[in-house]
Amino acid sequence: MPLYLDCDTGVDDALALAYLFNAPAAELAGVGTVFGNVTSAEGAANTAALLGLAGRSDVPVAVGAHDPIAGTFGGGARHVHGHNGVGGVDLPPGHRPGAETAAEMLVRLAHEHPHTLHVLTTAPLTNIAEALRIEPDLPALVANLTVMGGAVWVPGNVTPVAEANVANDPEAARVVLRAGFRTLLVPLDVTLRHHFDDTDADLFTHAGPPLHAALGQMLRHYVGFYESIGSGRRAPLHDPLAAAIAVGEVATTQVRGTALDVLLEAEDRGRTVAVDDPGVPKVGVVVEADPAAAAVIRERIMATAPLTAA
Ligand code: BDR
Ligand code: CA
Repeated sequence: MPLYLDCDTGVDDALALAYLFNAPAAELAGVGTVFGNVTSAEGAANTAALLGLAGRSDVPVAVGAHDPIAGTFGGGARHVHGHNGVGGVDLPPGHRPGAETAAEMLVRLAHEHPHTLHVLTTAPLTNIAEALRIEPDLPALVANLTVMGGAVWVPGNVTPVAEANVANDPEAARVVLRAGFRTLLVPLDVTLRHHFDDTDADLFTHAGPPLHAALGQMLRHYVGFYESIGSGRRAPLHDPLAAAIAVGEVATTQVRGTALDVLLEAEDRGRTVAVDDPGVPKVGVVVEADPAAAAVIRERIMATAPLTAA
């Protein structure tokens, strides 16, 4: 399946990319970046560097939105993902992003792969909202949309009610959820239940290829953050789980037919809620994933063909 990824790389975005490099069902057609964990430009540089380490510099990278629809970029989640978004690891520079924006790339790919392009987002939905402005028929043009984001029946991770990707641009999330895509939401409700830990960091670090050594080091940083907030030495697999679900490698339990909206006001800002409103389109919400998900993701990452051995 041709797949467009929109991300804010980010340690767990990096793991999602590494998973996608070797997921047989996924043909990475392009990657767009958006502000979030770091700036859009930093996310693009991190993404291109990882593509380079995997020998996949053929995959085009496009820089997307610098700021949310309302307000400005707040500086990122560097306390979570390291000062550079990839756990402080120095990655060798990758190829340069192209001239088109992420939203332009998505619209172009949707036209090049009519009704077959899968869209996966692991970041704020600003680029998708912008793509809808350029091409209002986008929901009918693409096959489906898988969104890592939201906290539907559990508390948020950046406010008591809001998950980071939605909280970073609630207006965009609202536009996208209301646009009529065939949408599958992969929220914190499920992503907080699947983890990597120090064993995985060791495995990647000693695997040999530079890509894996970098992933091992950044995972160590990510696990350390979760320990620092009292969640134990293990890190949730938000973005790689969404990727594995998007390509159909991990079985899920979904609540279907949920009309899902995003609240914008006061302390509810960024909250994703099920509503009883015929004007709001219905989406699927993943509430459970196969307990073997982490093992599936680990296996794919380990099998990624290295460009060069260490
Ligand atoms: C999401 O927020 C980002 O920090 C992560 O990369 C993930 O996409 C989890 O809430
Ligand atoms: Ca992300």
